[in-house]
Amino acid sequence: MADAETRLYGVIGFPVRHSLSPVMHNAAFKALGINAIYLAFEVPPERLGDAMEGVRALGISGLNVTMPHKEAVIHFLDSLSEDSGEIGSVNTVVNRKGKLEGHTTDGLGARRALERAIELGGRRILIIGAGGAGKAIAYELSKDNEVVVLNRTPEKAKALERFGIMGEALNRENLGKYLEWAEVLINATSVGMNSWETPVPGEMLRKDLVVMDIVYKPLKTRLLTEAELMGCKTVDGLWMLVYQGIESFKLWTGFKPDEGLMRGAALEGLG
Ligand code: ATR
Repeated sequence: MADAETRLYGVIGFPVRHSLSPVMHNAAFKALGINAIYLAFEVPPERLGDAMEGVRALGISGLNVTMPHKEAVIHFLDSLSEDSGEIGSVNTVVNRKGKLEGHTTDGLGARRALERAIELGGRRILIIGAGGAGKAIAYELSKDNEVVVLNRTPEKAKALERFGIMGEALNRENLGKYLEWAEVLINATSVGMNSWETPVPGEMLRKDLVVMDIVYKPLKTRLLTEAELMGCKTVDGLWMLVYQGIESFKLWTGFKPDEGLMRGAALEGLG
């Protein structure tokens, strides 16, 4: 039960009512006996500054930040972790004694999710998508793997070249070329979300590819369904959501919630 000691956490986004973060984090607070509560705050872009002032004034302990605020929120923070500064994206805010720190756990979330299927380090990884999530994943994985990013808007992929990441246009020719090269394929676009579309035609997949999707609605996307039919190992987007959540939770509390518990709560929330 909430009392005068209860600490408040939350997610800010627009829209945000579909977010699975409240059910995941509240389940973790309960399981670990932490006196805290996690809510969803729907904040339109023009109220972001006011909302962050509110975080300071009310002493909100921590936040997740989701679309469309991941970049804009940086203007309202006191400091940034190295990763979030490099990629210009924040998904986690920690309120440390009134100072707001920005972090990104999207990349680490993807790393942990992939590690369920494959040992990383020295791998050849093809990422489709250079949006907020694609950038964060590419930056993290490029620390110890070779990474190529293909994006519909090629300039956004090419902008990653300063991190030693090869970026090119998403087209059939490049897909063919880099799928042959890759050991791991990650969809970091929104293609397949609430639809039966896929960013990679099924016939282009190979049995020995590990295939991960960041889309988790549906849980079995068309890409993952076709990859499984082909015999590939797959990792669904809910695992990435769970692990980025775990990394945020660790930053806020110092405790690591159980991944099965977080996933169970998220699955229930997914309906
Ligand atoms: P997120 O934070 O989830 O990454 P985002 O920053 O809006 O969201 O990025 C969405 C990604 O999906 C981008 O890589 C986008 O490609 P563009 O940069 O060209 O916009 C990609 N995307 C969305 N719809 C797509 C489609 N129909 N085909 C190919 N890529 C698509």
